[in-house]
Amino acid sequence: MDSVVRVNGGKALSGRIHVRGAKNFVPKAMVAALLSDKPSELRNVPQISDVDIVSGLLRLHGVEVAYDVDRGILTIDPTLVTSAQVEAVGEHAGSSRIPILFCGPLLHRLGQAHIPDLGGCEIGGRPIDFHLRILEEFGACIEKQEGGGIHISAPKGLEGTTIRLPYPSVGATEQTLLAAVQARGKTELRGAAIEPEILDLINVLQKMGAIISVDIDRTIRIEGVDHLDGYVHRALPDRIEAASWASAALATRGDIFVEGAVQPDMTTFLNVFRKVGGAFEVHHDGIRFYHPGGQLHSIALETNVHPGFMTDWQQPLVVALTQAQGISIVHETVYENRFGFTKALNQMGAQIQLYRECLGGLECRFGQRNFFHSAVILGPTPLRGADIAIPDLRGGFSHLIAALAASGTSHVSGIGMISRGYENFIGKLRALGADIDLIDRSE
Ligand code: EPZ
Repeated sequence: MDSVVRVNGGKALSGRIHVRGAKNFVPKAMVAALLSDKPSELRNVPQISDVDIVSGLLRLHGVEVAYDVDRGILTIDPTLVTSAQVEAVGEHAGSSRIPILFCGPLLHRLGQAHIPDLGGCEIGGRPIDFHLRILEEFGACIEKQEGGGIHISAPKGLEGTTIRLPYPSVGATEQTLLAAVQARGKTELRGAAIEPEILDLINVLQKMGAIISVDIDRTIRIEGVDHLDGYVHRALPDRIEAASWASAALATRGDIFVEGAVQPDMTTFLNVFRKVGGAFEVHHDGIRFYHPGGQLHSIALETNVHPGFMTDWQQPLVVALTQAQGISIVHETVYENRFGFTKALNQMGAQIQLYRECLGGLECRFGQRNFFHSAVILGPTPLRGADIAIPDLRGGFSHLIAALAASGTSHVSGIGMISRGYENFIGKLRALGADIDLIDRSE
């Protein structure tokens, strides 16, 4: 669905919205259910297309999935699991990267799996070399398929192993967890990602019967077990969506209560939000984010793996930084090409310049290569409405924020991508007073 919205900007967003389970956790917990032949129940599940995609992929493999949208409850019954054709999986998965995480569970259940070539937001190469190396370390055999995708098999099952990640990759850590929990013997994963979404996936696996420890040096140890049960679990809230609404409050000089947001997952964001000049109040049922008046302050920011400033937080915040007094610097160290969205902001009047250099002190894999991964933002610059096409999920939400902050009318096309990770975002924007209309819905 490639819809277009018309936004009449210049109004402060104010009101209360509700955020449900994390887009970067829920699909992984759904895949984890495959590890058992007993039913599982996942709660606080948002109605986003990434959940639809994984539900469809599970059904392709013979799994029964039911979703109660209003209660946010997803039930998964993996009693019967069957192989699926790579063409069907590829067609259904679309741009999702989730199919690669089916490998471990399908190898344990079926001894083989067909995985299509992956998509994902255009924010970098999005390689899967770590994933493939990990699966081979566990003893899997991987064959590239002529028509695209891979066939992966492990006729003798998977053997626990020691893995050292060259970078704390979220996906590669999840890949290891989903393969190791039922591999023979012990697995040690060094240099692991420890994001809250990873720790919640470990909670799910432990509920199923897994034995997993997380050490202070980013080493995760898993003792393989023979059998895993189903689980009942309430998904952690989406800290990226919460931060996106916080940035929208700053950029539009508004006041937004995000019901469901929790402070511990957002500590680093809240520090930066305060340094920029935003104000927040932590309540028992959510967090109030608001612009207290006066000037916003420019900052120097570097994204990093957890507990650093999350790469998914930077796009919406950059829009607020266009309204800050002075020169801000953002050094993106997680993805090599995540500033594509700034081109549209400059068309709207922002003054953002991109650099290949690492404009920050953090060790970065992209220095002196041909990647424009540092941005300098001069503010404040008034934004004017424009016609913009969104490039990716988070950049797309940033374009919406910019259109809402701009004076005049904007037409934002390709917004179907935003529904991958932002539940009912048009309804929420209207609840916050935005003047937004869906003007074209081409299927
Ligand atoms: C997850 O992507 C998230 N997506 C991303 O959110 C998030 O930005 C990212 O983690 C980092 O936190 C989901 O969970 C669905 P990575 P993932 O593996 O797992 C390189 C959003 O908007 N790498 O941690 O794909 C990779 O190129 C999305 O919600 C390899 O080189 O991220 C990148 O530079 C965007 N080889 C870095 O590691 C590999 O095999 C981090 O990637 C895998 C990754």
